[in-house]
Amino acid sequence: MHIRKLAPHEPPPMELLLLADPSRTLVEEYIARGDCFVCEADRRIVGVYVLLPTRPGTIELVNVAVAEPEQGKGIGKRLVLHAIDEARARGFHTIEIGTGSTGVVQLALYQKCGFRMTGIDKDFFVRHYEEDIYENGIRLRDMVRLSLDLQDRLHEN
Ligand code: COA
Repeated sequence: MHIRKLAPHEPPPMELLLLADPSRTLVEEYIARGDCFVCEADRRIVGVYVLLPTRPGTIELVNVAVAEPEQGKGIGKRLVLHAIDEARARGFHTIEIGTGSTGVVQLALYQKCGFRMTGIDKDFFVRHYEEDIYENGIRLRDMVRLSLDLQDRLHEN
């Protein structure tokens, strides 16, 4: 299993990207501006993440997804840690991520990788998504913002 940057001529794994973000419009918009990385096992793409520079010195992990049959095996964590290393290697000082307040697995994963909560974007998903989204039996409304200072000493978890 290895993680590599998707080449410009390769089609992005849209089905996987839509697992993490149901808005095809938003996904198409940020993959055009960001860098897409894929995790391959036996020549199949089983995971993806997208990094997008947002402000000077800051980059955002705007999408991370693992194919459903492969979830819970540590691939998501490897992708997030790879994204952190990639951002640090490119000289960014902060990496950010925004995730639904209802995403228990996601919130655990990002905090295990060293991210800290910085704020809540109230009603983000009501404002930006046409259809109601339910996760873990809760209507998704708010986005939790998290960030990691890349100049801090390396996270030890
Ligand atoms: N219940 C609770 N926590 C769980 C869990 C479960 N069923 N499955 C995973 N976790 C947590 C654990 O804390 C685990 O940490 P550990 O390795 O120390 O035990 C951590 O998540 C990482 O698990 P991992 O196996 O690396 O995650 P994954 O490969 O399943 O990937 C996602 C995680 C979120 C990327 C994956 O579930 C996914 O693609 N979901 C759909 C898309 C999505 O929601 N993306 C995020 C958008 S913000």
